[in-house]
Formats: sequence, C-alpha cells, structure tokens
Amino acid sequence: MIASAYLFDGGTESALWAVPTPSPSISPAFSVPEPGSDVPSSGLPQRKLTVQPQGARMSIVVTGATGQLGRLIVAALRERGVPAGDIVAVGRNTDRLAELAGQGVVTRRADYDDPDSLRAAFADADKLMFVSGSEVGRRRPQHRNVVTAAREAGVGLVVYTSIAHADTAGMRLAGEHRDTEGYVREAGLPYVFLRNSWYLENYIDQLDAYRKQGVAGAAGDGRVSAATRADYAEAAAVVLTSDGHENRVYELGGAPFTLTELAAEVTRQTGEKVGYTDLPADRYTEVLIAAGLPEGYAAVLADSDLGLARGELEVGDDLATLLGRTPTPAPGRPGRRSGARRSPGLRRARRAASPGRPPGSARSRRSPPSG
Ligand SMILES: NC(=O)c1ccc[n+]([C@@H]2O[C@H](COP(=O)([O-])OP(=O)(O)OC[C@H]3O[C@@H](n4cnc5c(N)ncnc54)[C@H](OP(=O)(O)O)[C@@H]3O)[C@@H](O)[C@H]2O)c1
Repeated sequence: MIASAYLFDGGTESALWAVPTPSPSISPAFSVPEPGSDVPSSGLPQRKLTVQPQGARMSIVVTGATGQLGRLIVAALRERGVPAGDIVAVGRNTDRLAELAGQGVVTRRADYDDPDSLRAAFADADKLMFVSGSEVGRRRPQHRNVVTAAREAGVGLVVYTSIAHADTAGMRLAGEHRDTEGYVREAGLPYVFLRNSWYLENYIDQLDAYRKQGVAGAAGDGRVSAATRADYAEAAAVVLTSDGHENRVYELGGAPFTLTELAAEVTRQTGEKVGYTDLPADRYTEVLIAAGLPEGYAAVLADSDLGLARGELEVGDDLATLLGRTPTPAPGRPGRRSGARRSPGLRRARRAASPGRPPGSARSRRSPPSG
C-alpha cells in the first residue's frame, strides 16, 4: 500500500514523495490507553457529524493565526463556508495580521504573555481555536494565560493543538501539552484536543540535506505518523464547524513510516542512494550541535527522536476519519511519479531545504520542532 505525500507550496500542490505504509493486517507497534475521563480518541463520534446550519453566526477566534498552521486553519474555515467576518485571527506579527485583515478577517493582536491582550482578543468568542505557542519552555504560563482568558470570556469550546499521546508520552515536548490539557479541563471549559503528530514538512523541508548527507537520527525503527499542516488544519476546521466533538481527544497523523523508509523513499525519488544512520541520542545531539544548533534545541530534537523510537508519534486513523479521506494524498491523485527527479515539487523542496549541514541536521527555520 502506498500513501503519497504532497507539498503545499504557495497554494500549488505537487506530488513530492510516497512512503510505504504497513499492511492493515499488521498490528500497531504499540497501543496507548485512552484517558479514562475522555471519550476515547479512536472511538470517533458515534453520532453523525452534522455541519452547523447555514446562517448560524458564530465567532471563531484562531490564535497563532499569523503562523503556518493557523493561517491554514483560517483558510480551511473559509473553505468550509465560515464568513470572514466571523473569524477572529489572533497573533503578534502585525504584518501578517494586516494580510489577514485584507481578506476580511477580523484581526486582534495579542500575546500569550499578556493576559489583558488575550481578554480583549477573546471577547465575544463562541469558539476558540487555540494553536499552541512556539516558545518551548515558556508555554506553561503562556498557555495558562490563554485558558484563563478563555474562561473569563465564557468561550463555549476550546480546540487545542496538542501533541500525540500527550497524556502518556515521555518525550520532553509532551509535558507542556499535557499540562495545558490539564488547565483546560480544570477550567471546566468544553474542549477538543487535537493531538497532532509531526508535520510532514519537518522532513520534506530537509530533502536537500538528506540527498547530500543522508538521514540521521536516534529514532531506531520507530514509526512517525507525520501529516501535512494542511491536513491538520482541515481537521481543525471540521471540528470547529461540525457537532459531536465536545470533550473528545483525537490522535491525529498520517500513514506511519520509519526513518529508514523515509531514506529509501528519497532514494527512490531522486535516484541517489540515501541511507538512514541511527545514532545514540547523545551522539545525535553532538551532531546537531556541530551543525550549529543551540545545545538545548539539539537535546530536545534528540529526545523527540527517542520518543519516536518508543512509538510516541505513531497514531491511528482519527485524522482520516475526521477528513473523510486518506490524509495526503487526496483520493485520485497520483502517488508515484516517474521522473519525479525533475518534478516542480522536488525542485521547490530542494530550494526550501537548508544545504551544507551534517546528516539529517538541517532543520527548517520555518518549522521549529516546538511540537
Ligand atoms: N507537530 C509538529 O511537527 C510541530 C512542529 C512545530 C511546532 N508545532 C506546534 O504547533 C504550533 C503551530 O505550528 P506552526 O508551524 O504554525 O508554528 P509557527 O509557524 O511557528 O507559528 C506559531 C504561531 O504561534 C504564535 N505565537 C507564538 N508565541 C506566541 C505568543 N507568546 N503570543 C501569541 N502568539 C504566539 C505565533 O505568532 P507570531 O508569529 O505572530 O508571533 C505564530 O502565529 C507551534 O506553535 C507548536 O506549538 C508542532
């Protein structure tokens, strides 16, 4: 079975690579118990999802709307028929807020460190799309501020972008998400936790470095259910615009693959031999530091790979169920492409990747692994 990935670049979609997915008959590498107090994530709503009736006005506030995922969520809401005037885009970057205002979206500048700005931004909000912040290590107080402001504003639903298996995952990045989920529950706010696995772009953006130096990591034979930001954004829009999701936890991701399979796919598509080098975590950290990454950042990346090795980024098919389709590729799109070496998508990915780094160390500047 082949699941193809697509790169969304400037609105142009192009086939980029195809990763082999296991036969459905193969059991998952691990299973994670669902939190007792939640409706099981794998048991998607028994009720039929009903799209909210047209004409029902609803103010949806989207934080992180100036970021890559948040902008895609705003676009996905528009595609699902939400009027621009019903969407409130929140962020700090005034240039990007101005771009959104140009689309007719309401914009409000707010900082997770500034409770007053959050209170003002959430005024009259019916639903809050809470995109997690990107400042790793500072997110507990920041996210607590967001939740407090949401409670004070009387928000009717908080949809939070968490991390896969936030309740049980041992990787360091999971802690802030686990605690944020706790703040939301403690606040008594109706919620939906979208526990996203990795972005596929985390890998796609490094394609050029993979070709030059191979793939390196500390992930062993672990599998990662990476999916595109666009797919995660569409799932968020589905949850925000249909009923039956309240107090549910969704473990979201695409077809899982190992980093060995990733390297093999790069080899297949480029015709150049690319391998995966599995390193002990401390050695991988050293490699990343030698490549110029700050020590703490490198350690978090290596720690995340150890989590990947333990299966903490592998999830089931909640994303496919929410989307009503296979997460990238869209049905009917070509999965494999002969001559992909010359494909526009691959050329774009080459341009996007950072050259000249040690194996697997070229992390995208645009997508910090802030999980
Ligand atoms: N699953 C994964 O592989 C993965 C990878 C990376 C990150 N993530 C998580 O997913 C989130 C969204 O991903 P992304 O790719 O859209 O990240 P991104 O492009 O870096 O966007 C981050 C967004 O968070 C906003 N933000 C950060 N700190 C803030 C603060 N103190 N106050 C207000 N807004 C703040 C930014 O606002 P401004 O730009 O306006 O400052 C921006 O809109 C990240 O923030 C991170 O929590 C997941």
